[in-house]
Amino acid sequence: MNTAIELKNIKKAYGDKVILEGFCLSVARGEFVTIIGSSGCGKTTVLKMINGLIKPTSGDVFVDGENIRSKNIIQLRRNIGYAIQGSVLFPHMTVGQNISYVPNLLNKRDRARTRSAVSKWMGIVGLDEELKDRYPSELSGGQQQRVGIARALAASPDILLMDEPFGAVDEITRSQLQTELRQIYEKTGITVLFVTHDISEALKLGTKVLVMDQGIIQQYARPDELMRKPATDFVKQLVQL
Ligand SMILES: Nc1ncnc2c1ncn2[C@@H]1O[C@H](COP(=O)(O)OP(=O)(O)O)[C@@H](O)[C@H]1O
Ligand SMILES: [Mg+2]
Repeated sequence: MNTAIELKNIKKAYGDKVILEGFCLSVARGEFVTIIGSSGCGKTTVLKMINGLIKPTSGDVFVDGENIRSKNIIQLRRNIGYAIQGSVLFPHMTVGQNISYVPNLLNKRDRARTRSAVSKWMGIVGLDEELKDRYPSELSGGQQQRVGIARALAASPDILLMDEPFGAVDEITRSQLQTELRQIYEKTGITVLFVTHDISEALKLGTKVLVMDQGIIQQYARPDELMRKPATDFVKQLVQL
């Protein structure tokens, strides 16, 4: 099985407003797919259908070759990390408690194992260990974002979904986070789906770029192909910006 994620003939409507129709996407294992498109075109909807937060009106989603309709939703989400823009940390928990939330559920009694997972992931995302006992409100935006990523990764998921995760941080922090994420990806071989509204970020990070407009896939190709042979005017305008 080389396909990590497959969306087959998806339709999604809210009331009578159709967001996606005939939407098909196949993501190979170990791919880093960046998703870019106009606001409201359905990017977040696509991401949330993969971890079952949103159900398609019709069509099927397969993760690791299995239709998620027949999968236990808790099991499914354990294997899929999810990081979104801004701070979504538990405000009443320390950094360490936030990061160890899922490993704790998994390791139950093995506290040493959880502790070492926390320091490992703090190190990987570039967080000083002394921040472990702080609360989210005592951190900068960039630090909070790093904790969010560490928390998403600490469960060792095979798939990482990221929805504009670096949207709310300054340029320098963003560039550091991009480098760190790319290194994590290269080290772990995890499959990543990463939504962004920044074309340079999409081209820099992705092994493949998915361009969407009005619920339609404009192009799904490697960054260099996208630059060389934009498939539609929409893509052409995007890469010329
Ligand atoms: N729960 C909902 N009820 C009604 N409309 C929704 C709901 N969630 C999203 N939408 C609409 O669906 C469209 C796609 O949303 P979304 O996937 O969040 O877009 P994107 O992430 O690309 O900006 C938007 O027009 C949005 O307003
Ligand atoms: Mg969105």
